[in-house]
Amino acid sequence: MSATASRRGLFISFEGIDGSGKSTQARLLAEALRTEGAEVVLTREPGGSPGAEEIRDLVLRGDPDRWSAETEILLFTAARRDHLERTIRPALEAGQVVICDRFADSTRMYQGLSRGDLRRQVDALHALMIGIEPDLTLLIDMDPETGLARALGRQGPEERFEGFGLDLQRQMRAGFLALAGEFAQRFRVIDGARDPAAVAAEVKLRVEELRR
Ligand code: TYD
Repeated sequence: MSATASRRGLFISFEGIDGSGKSTQARLLAEALRTEGAEVVLTREPGGSPGAEEIRDLVLRGDPDRWSAETEILLFTAARRDHLERTIRPALEAGQVVICDRFADSTRMYQGLSRGDLRRQVDALHALMIGIEPDLTLLIDMDPETGLARALGRQGPEERFEGFGLDLQRQMRAGFLALAGEFAQRFRVIDGARDPAAVAAEVKLRVEELRR
């Protein structure tokens, strides 16, 4: 378990484009592990602590051009730092399983890729202020047409990124797959274009492999 071996709990993140079904899968995994008696903290980014949820409103609501990509990197990282301090770290130290719907890989993709090449800045700030990676990252892979149709079908006031459309979704999918290659040790790519129960079964299998 690499750099995370000193912790007692297990840190699992879900990633994927908007509409990939990762939030459903995160919930199903939490339910399955709780049924087995594990103590699970199901959380999300941006958000997952009271302060980070306030930052979520700042970044996801309002005019899509409200913030520059650089400012967004700072805001998402600020939210992540608060989430880490108040929710993730205490749970891991208590030996719990933390399941997080998006984590730093989303910043690497959305801010690091969508408007110019800002990956270096994202990684530098991550190293300085966050410094941990999940033990396991489940990438729910989905073709962008299907993902976008799903995401638009439930569009609410948080349309900051979904509004950018199909081109961005294609770029994000390719970017996530490349990231899975870059961090092959902790990433598992899962075909999300199937019945949710079949996806959930594969997710569960990947988690069991890790706990063995
Ligand atoms: P999320 O609530 O996961 O929305 P969805 O379930 O529709 O994917 O994420 C909200 C949006 O925030 C999503 O479009 C991705 C974006 N985002 C970033 O741009 N950077 C980040 O670091 C994170 C965590 C999310």
